[in-house]
Amino acid sequence: MSNVVIVGAQWGDEGKGKVVDLFTSWADVVVRFQGGANAGHTLVVGGVKTVLHLVPAGILHAGKKCFIGNGVVVDPEALMDEIDFLKSRGLLTDPHQLIVSENANVILPYHKRIDAGREKSRGKDAIGTTGRGIGPCYEDKIARRGIRVRDLAKPRSLREKLSARLPEANAQIESLGGQTCDLEGLVEQALKQGERMQPYVGDASEKLAREVEHGRAVLFEGAQGTLLDVDHGTYPYVTSSNTVAGNASVGAGIGPTVINSVIGITKAYTTRVGNGPLPTELHDEMGEQLRRVGAEFGATTGRPRRCGWLDALVLRYAARVNGLSGLAMTKLDVLTGIDKIMVAVAYKLMDGRTVSEFPSDPELLAEAQPVYEELPGWKEPLGDLREYTELPANAQHYVERVEQLVGVETIAVSVGPDRAQTIVRKNPFRHV
Ligand code: GDP
Ligand code: IMO
Ligand code: MG
Repeated sequence: MSNVVIVGAQWGDEGKGKVVDLFTSWADVVVRFQGGANAGHTLVVGGVKTVLHLVPAGILHAGKKCFIGNGVVVDPEALMDEIDFLKSRGLLTDPHQLIVSENANVILPYHKRIDAGREKSRGKDAIGTTGRGIGPCYEDKIARRGIRVRDLAKPRSLREKLSARLPEANAQIESLGGQTCDLEGLVEQALKQGERMQPYVGDASEKLAREVEHGRAVLFEGAQGTLLDVDHGTYPYVTSSNTVAGNASVGAGIGPTVINSVIGITKAYTTRVGNGPLPTELHDEMGEQLRRVGAEFGATTGRPRRCGWLDALVLRYAARVNGLSGLAMTKLDVLTGIDKIMVAVAYKLMDGRTVSEFPSDPELLAEAQPVYEELPGWKEPLGDLREYTELPANAQHYVERVEQLVGVETIAVSVGPDRAQTIVRKNPFRHV
């Protein structure tokens, strides 16, 4: 059996949730390895929509195991809300279906207050975070003062750790004009949440290793996207974790030699939510059309997404930093009815150069003017098509031109939000 990593190849919201749900039918285990409840992964099955923030998108498949790895930042409140919701839908009936790493760091109320306060104080230079406390929690992890899932089961050491951390956190919250946290209230709430989480908590790394040993197929579910990676993204307008495929191993607690292939998810165009450069952004009627037809509003915050044409430089870059072995293209149906579809194939930079590689200097990127190639559109709706050869010739040509520009084959094409609305050209678990 092979093990597959799914990552976003753009700025997030590429449709990772939908693809992971679909590919779970070939997998035994699904693992989240980074990010937190900043993610919003949408699954639509038989017309019923589910949005997941922390629980892996494999959870709708009975009998498959889902792991939340050590690299995830877990908000206990958000997690328990999600678990309650899944239970109320008759899913997650057996606690053994979900394993939360005891080494994952925990998001506490002060992280969210610092996140919100900082964004406010930044004014027009705000990152546009999701306000879920992600950055401050990862900061604490790296500064070796984080609270981990395992600490929520140890009242004495939890109180000690929070007593050490809280004065500084509260001083920061106060300086940002926010409301400070009370130690006793915080300890009490965290212990209560820890108790509720207990049936799901375990040594995720060890349990995952057992699954791999038994030859079970593992799907690693990335959150956010390559251009939001803290090292490789459009810094500082990024999230606070490594979103690229290399981190699947670190954040799941399993060596990189178990990974056989990496699939990048891309929309047939580009979106971004939050601030920062987006070279192909459209500020005109076409941008509005993509937002309207694609229903481009954030699954976590409801914010309208910024929309633009597909950017081949971004995808080539994503292929490089993730080592993509395949692409899955979503939302091809949204391009129906557009006469001439543009794809960025180069940038004109402010220093006069024209480049075909994604520039690593964010200042150059901010001013980059895309050079477009024009591709002919199609008029037919795609939502009911299930075979690649049924796609209009120009839609096939679009997919194949993108493959050529990126140098990576497209293993799946998505033509609607529902699980059924997908054309799979190659099973990723037999992809190596
Ligand atoms: P994720 O964060 O990468 O999982 O993506 P989101 O769930 O945040 O955003 C993707 C949105 O596009 C969701 O509303 C999906 O239901 C929807 N979607 C996914 N694939 C398709 C598709 O092929 N066509 C259309 N029209 N919508 C899609
Ligand atoms: P999924 O997994 C799209 C963006 C935020 C902001 C930046 C930093 O659904 O694709 P953070 O709260 O992480 O500190 O915000 O990252 N962002 C996302 N954008 N999809 C996501 O997740 C995102 N998670 C964070 O909008 O620009
Ligand atoms: Mg999303």
